Amino acid sequence: MKKIIIINGPNLNLLGKREPTIYGSNSFEDFFKDLKNKYTTVELEYFQSNIEGELINKLHEVGFDYDGVILNAAAYTHTSVGIGDAVKAIETPVVEVHISNIHAREDFRHVSYIAPNAKGVLFGFGLQGYELALQSFL
Ligand code: DQA
Repeated sequence: MKKIIIINGPNLNLLGKREPTIYGSNSFEDFFKDLKNKYTTVELEYFQSNIEGELINKLHEVGFDYDGVILNAAAYTHTSVGIGDAVKAIETPVVEVHISNIHAREDFRHVSYIAPNAKGVLFGFGLQGYELALQSFL
């Protein structure tokens, strides 16, 4: 079975409650439950942290063993050289996902430290972006 992990960064624990006009009204936990039930032939995991170093530690932990990482580093996407370096350092391919269309928003969201080393990038498809990223690994 393929091992895939979804890693979510800061403030994504508030999905469903946070700015629902941008991020929707579903909690990630409910979405993840449905995704797991739909893709039973994949070992699918989920990790979320608001702490930059914990995201880096998780990338190191899974990055030489898992078949794919689906990463929404949220605001750290636009600021974190450390997470960008971690994505470059590991062997597991990383697909970068954003729920919103980051290129239709503020200029600072147009920069990504992850994209140069990602296998691909998906943004603007809401939570469906995570499913599209998962399909890209299957
Ligand atoms: C986000 C976009 C980021 O700019 C923002 O900081 C987030 C969420 C998205 O999924 O659309 O927290 O990554």
